[in-house]
Amino acid sequence: MLVAARKGSPLVVGIGKDEYFLASDATPIVEFTSRVVYPDDEEIVVLERGREIRIKTISNVEKTPEIKKLELTLNQLEKGGYPHFMLKEIFEQPVALANSMKGRVHVNPEKITLAGFQENRDKFLAAGRIIITACGTSWHAGLIGMYAIEEFARIPVEVEYSSEFRYRKPVVAPGDIVIAISQSGETADTLAAIEMAKAAGAFIFGICNVVGASIPRCAHGGCYTHVGPEIGVASTKAFTAQVTVLIMLALSIGREKGTLSAEKYARIIRELQDVPEKMSGILAKNDMISRFAKTFTYAHNFIYLGRGYNFPIALEGALKLKEISYIHAEGYPAAEMKHGPIALISNEMPVVVIAPQSGTYEKVVSNIQEIKARKGRIISVVTEGDTCPIMS
Ligand code: F6R
Repeated sequence: MLVAARKGSPLVVGIGKDEYFLASDATPIVEFTSRVVYPDDEEIVVLERGREIRIKTISNVEKTPEIKKLELTLNQLEKGGYPHFMLKEIFEQPVALANSMKGRVHVNPEKITLAGFQENRDKFLAAGRIIITACGTSWHAGLIGMYAIEEFARIPVEVEYSSEFRYRKPVVAPGDIVIAISQSGETADTLAAIEMAKAAGAFIFGICNVVGASIPRCAHGGCYTHVGPEIGVASTKAFTAQVTVLIMLALSIGREKGTLSAEKYARIIRELQDVPEKMSGILAKNDMISRFAKTFTYAHNFIYLGRGYNFPIALEGALKLKEISYIHAEGYPAAEMKHGPIALISNEMPVVVIAPQSGTYEKVVSNIQEIKARKGRIISVVTEGDTCPIMS
């Protein structure tokens, strides 16, 4: 007899032929079975040779185990010829994002059908404010979500680190919507934050990747990102999919509320549809980008700059560099440089500037001029065809 209990951390039971498996997520057991049970917190699982799985609550009440079928395949867990999972997952993005938008983004006519929104439409339309909570990369996606929801749907949004939100005394009330973003759906701080908000009467909406994980199960509603397993420790395709889902959500609320014009709604949907192909175009430049990166291996510090929607992207770029290259990096809103950090600029510290042709382009150009005056070395990420000499 084997007894397992769940408290806080994730637990999954795999049901094979004459055998059982216990793991913290489904990836190590998919090779052996696709039938799984996810016990809830404070539940006890009793496994015995030759007997059916039994589940009890902590108060000893027997429950009927809910057996689910895994959608995961072994193929998704292999590196497929890439030297490591992170690279594989970066290259998977065009297909992963197309999967995330499948059945949700339509053209002719342009429309978003996001079941998670439609099922909770009235709550979103009545919301006086939205709180987004997450950690790390998912928190960066949350910032982009804030920009999009405020721009398209005109609902005030706050973005909170789950680890801060859960330990301070935030004001959360019935009628508030709390959006929890998590790739794994198991991050302890995010789970604790939503449990606290749920107890205060908020409506919890999860945006997660791992189907059946603790956060989607704790939430009242939500959307999956549907990009398949992310094995690489640094979040890549999960981040771009979180942003995609948040944009779809913001567009849906904005259109239903009437705060977003039909024309702008249609234009952004067409742009969304084109993202996978554009991503493939960027990925085709991989070898060139890799050669270029070698010229900066001397640097011990980087700064990433962006404005508007590209400010969270700058934060995310800096996080990725720190996490993967062990090089110190900071992300800043480009205009904040002049309020102090510009003192750090020298040719020893490369500055990555995200400056596509958007509303703030001219402003970013003037921020770059200030950096160049201090002999800063600029690496700019610009719209194809941009020939502005200040950008190089
Ligand atoms: C960074 C990264 C982490 C995660 C964070 C939250 O590359 O992967 O910062 O984003 O630990 O994890 P999830 O999204 O699973 O809640």
